[in-house]
Amino acid sequence: MQGDKRLIVALDAPDMDRVACLVETIGDAVSYYKVGMELYYSEGSKVISYLRGLDKEIFLDLKLHDIPNTVARGLSSLTTLGASMLNVHASGGLRMMEAARRSVAEKAAELGIARPKLIAVTILTSIDETEWVNLRHDKNIAEYVVHLAQLAQCAGIDGVVASPQEAAAIRAACGDNFIIVTPGVRPQGAAVNDQSRIATPAGALKNGAHHLVVGRPITAATDPRSAALAILREMREKG
Ligand code: C5P
Repeated sequence: MQGDKRLIVALDAPDMDRVACLVETIGDAVSYYKVGMELYYSEGSKVISYLRGLDKEIFLDLKLHDIPNTVARGLSSLTTLGASMLNVHASGGLRMMEAARRSVAEKAAELGIARPKLIAVTILTSIDETEWVNLRHDKNIAEYVVHLAQLAQCAGIDGVVASPQEAAAIRAACGDNFIIVTPGVRPQGAAVNDQSRIATPAGALKNGAHHLVVGRPITAATDPRSAALAILREMREKG
């Protein structure tokens, strides 16, 4: 069985032992994993080699946000690791995203490898209206997310990370080929945790998401493989 690559499971785990246990338990149900700050900061490229050795695809979610030169150089190093997808914060601006795109393309060409997709984080799915007001933005969240998505598209970025609640508006504004990755996915009745702008797996797909990032509903389940299979079933039935 080849896992449905529309589902990306967030491996938010502290070390290799926990990762190996999760990945072995989930087995062939999942073939695309997200490695984020917790795991990459503790294990570094070892975890990427481990997952590549199992023929899994990797979204390396380090959300780079710095001046253009620093982000470009950071991404050049990360491109050597062989992840399928990398990301930056869209709020780093047009010039930063352009430098990021160029750097990834140049490094991949130099190495003779497929260019990793580069996507931009719009507004974190944990930000709710209260947090938003504290940040002193004058547009509403959905308008600003679409604005950032269009800015990312102008910079030649492949897609965005956004909430499933904004996916339809992004799809309408940026077209079908612009990748939309949505965290904030919760099956009916699952714990919301620190997420705010959420949808069910079926809802996220219906709104136009290409990839769903799901972490705790799978990784914290008593039986992570069954939890992943249940989400995949829901995606197949309704997606
Ligand atoms: O456990 P949960 O399903 O909430 O995990 C969601 C994952 O997606 C986490 O690893 C989080 O860092 C990531 N993420 C997010 N919101 C974004 C970007 C990434 O939740 N806007």
